[in-house]
Amino acid sequence: MLLKNDLLLRTINGEKTERTPVWLMRQAGRILPEYRAVRNSLSGFKELVETPELAAEVTIQPVDLLGVDAAIIFSDILVIPEAMGLKYEMIEKKGPHFPETIKSKSDVNKLKVAQADDVQYTIDAISVTKKELGGRVPIIGFAGAPWTIFAYMIEGGGSKTFSKARRMLYTDPETSHHLLQKITTSTINYLKGQIGAGANLVQVFDSWAGILAPANYEEFSLPYIKQICDAINEVPKTVFAKDAYFAREWFGLLNCNTIGLDWCMDIRESRRLIGDQKVLQGNLDPCILYSSEQRIKEETEMMLRQFGPSKHIANLGHGVYPDTDPAKVKYYIDCVKAYQH
Ligand code: CP3
Repeated sequence: MLLKNDLLLRTINGEKTERTPVWLMRQAGRILPEYRAVRNSLSGFKELVETPELAAEVTIQPVDLLGVDAAIIFSDILVIPEAMGLKYEMIEKKGPHFPETIKSKSDVNKLKVAQADDVQYTIDAISVTKKELGGRVPIIGFAGAPWTIFAYMIEGGGSKTFSKARRMLYTDPETSHHLLQKITTSTINYLKGQIGAGANLVQVFDSWAGILAPANYEEFSLPYIKQICDAINEVPKTVFAKDAYFAREWFGLLNCNTIGLDWCMDIRESRRLIGDQKVLQGNLDPCILYSSEQRIKEETEMMLRQFGPSKHIANLGHGVYPDTDPAKVKYYIDCVKAYQH
């Protein structure tokens, strides 16, 4: 199907477009009352993720309500551990929890390598979204980076330090690599399934990149992200690794199109470290959306000037925070759309 709005894909191809494309991480949900309404009619988050028609509905809400240039499929990175045999729960106002965690080599041996149809509900959600969008904007598929998924599987939930996960890297590197490889193969299968159903590009989220020392990142995260990038050649790929300042030069060498920047990464320094080839995505501090319209406009224009007129996809430096006023989010998007380079 021909896309009516292909700004994002043309930007990824290196074209200078009529304006900078914009979408937001975590745009589907949380901030929108329309999302809360769908969500509150159900037993919980997982029911929404696992019901393709409803997942498609909340995927499309930000396209209608905010006017973003892409839809990111509504799901979660934690569907992969579950598909491998480790169930997760989403606890209201607290976040993810794994009743069982991975502690030993034999736990890793018991896990399966997931196939795309182990996450059929998300694959189906993409097919439904594709049909309902009718080519209005591209669809972004996604998965967690192997290290970030590993961190949740070992730790059993969120953590300030992820010390159990990091401990495993030192005490049992062999088992760590075995688990990371199983996650990587599962992730490749899953992303290929998403692409088969209609994802126009994919993003890999390494949300916990920043808690690893550079040498650990180089050994336990980067090679697996590289494997994913090398295995996916059907659509453009984005890598977003939060707080991974030290990895920016390495990212410049990955076989991917776009690198996401968080808000602490200086734009010009990042461009210098990553090189001229990659498209950069980001990176307004999500907290700027709590300030006045005038401040939002100034900060947005400063960001757009620094990134320049091509090879930039506007976004935030991380997901939009749940208590942000949706009107301010829309204002940010409108500021990007109105800006003339
Ligand atoms: O971006 C989107 O709008 C698409 C959907 C999406 C969700 N999670 C829905 C969600 C995406 C891309 C994710 C990715 C995700 N999930 C990441 C990587 C990105 C990042 O933020 O660093 C991570 C680390 C997770 C794991 C996760 N899921 C956590 C820690 C939590 C609880 C805290 C939180 O962020 O709300 C979730 C729950 C979750 N995933 C919600 C949504 C809309 C909130 C659940 C709800 O109340 O409905």
